[in-house]
Amino acid sequence: MAIKKIAILTGGGDCPGLNPVIRAVVKTAITKYGLEVMGVKNGYRGLYLGELVPLTLENISGILHKGGTILYSSNKDNLFDYPFEENGKIVKKNVAHVGVENLKKFGVDALIVVGGDGTLTSARDFSRLGVNVIGVPKTIDNDLYSTDFTFGFDTAVGVVTECIDRLHSTAESHHRAIVVEVMGRYAGWIALHSGVAGGADCILIPEIPYDIDKVCEAVENRKKQGKQFSIICVAEGAKSITGEISVMKVIEDSADPIRLGGIGAKIAEDIEKKTGVESRATVLGHIQRGGTPSSYDRILSTKYGATAVEMIMDGKFGNMVTLKGNEMSYDTLENVIGNKTKTVDPNCELVRIAKDIGISFGD
Ligand code: F6P
Repeated sequence: MAIKKIAILTGGGDCPGLNPVIRAVVKTAITKYGLEVMGVKNGYRGLYLGELVPLTLENISGILHKGGTILYSSNKDNLFDYPFEENGKIVKKNVAHVGVENLKKFGVDALIVVGGDGTLTSARDFSRLGVNVIGVPKTIDNDLYSTDFTFGFDTAVGVVTECIDRLHSTAESHHRAIVVEVMGRYAGWIALHSGVAGGADCILIPEIPYDIDKVCEAVENRKKQGKQFSIICVAEGAKSITGEISVMKVIEDSADPIRLGGIGAKIAEDIEKKTGVESRATVLGHIQRGGTPSSYDRILSTKYGATAVEMIMDGKFGNMVTLKGNEMSYDTLENVIGNKTKTVDPNCELVRIAKDIGISFGD
């Protein structure tokens, strides 16, 4: 089939690198192949409402270094289970056919969907309906199956590392234990990488259940060595040996309703109680997702975007672009999606090396 017009949609939480992906898609499509490109605004909601706008070399100019997404995003609007209010009640309906009709109405031959697992699950489902879909993996959490790195992760790690550097000053000056709570959902990638890069003394990740007594032991051992302060980098999804995780809130109309959070404060309180070391918790939150992408993420996003267009021209629909080592590759959305989360292997090299240099994982 001759491809003349393509569209791109960004879904889920914002992530540094989304704009560079959009830019690479538009530039490759127009410059190399002479295609027309449309942007779907506000994620899948815009697909339902027909909010498609032309993307040109002019209107994507100057976005490479900008955080967020010029197309806006939504992490709630699953068209296969879309909420409507009827007689005061919320009723969910499958309105995916409206999205398919809108793509036809605008003459779109193929759709690039940039998102995490929720957004890409719908991408797979649109592919099953016959839409020519290419997925691009996005998340600071780096937890998507089948790709070595997602864009946004490097930036998030950079931001957290800088914050840990800054928190060292207070920890050291006040002889405190400072607990830094970072994002990552059920995967410990951000905590592990930024904890090592920032010189944390203790790293707690969901993949290695922690014993609070071991965490306190690490703080006390440092005191014995004459170090009056400690930095504990904890993933929001960290799990205790008794299986507890901290849930901050539940957002019913979200594809992934559970929002983790609160573990940092709990650990700081426990450390202070058990060791007598004054402790504070800092939650970095959405700071990790905002702002300018790192140069690594700009390059990776550019590669993802350009490869997505190449895959369209090669007719490789129903696939997600992946990074394997240093090479761009792809895998089927069917294989990537479905309760598979790429988590940290507790026996991986970085965990081993971190332990070898004395970092405690509370185990
Ligand atoms: O998936 C990205 C992420 O930032 C997670 O690390 C975090 O748990 C979640 O999104 C926060 O979601 P929200 O922006 O809806 O609070």
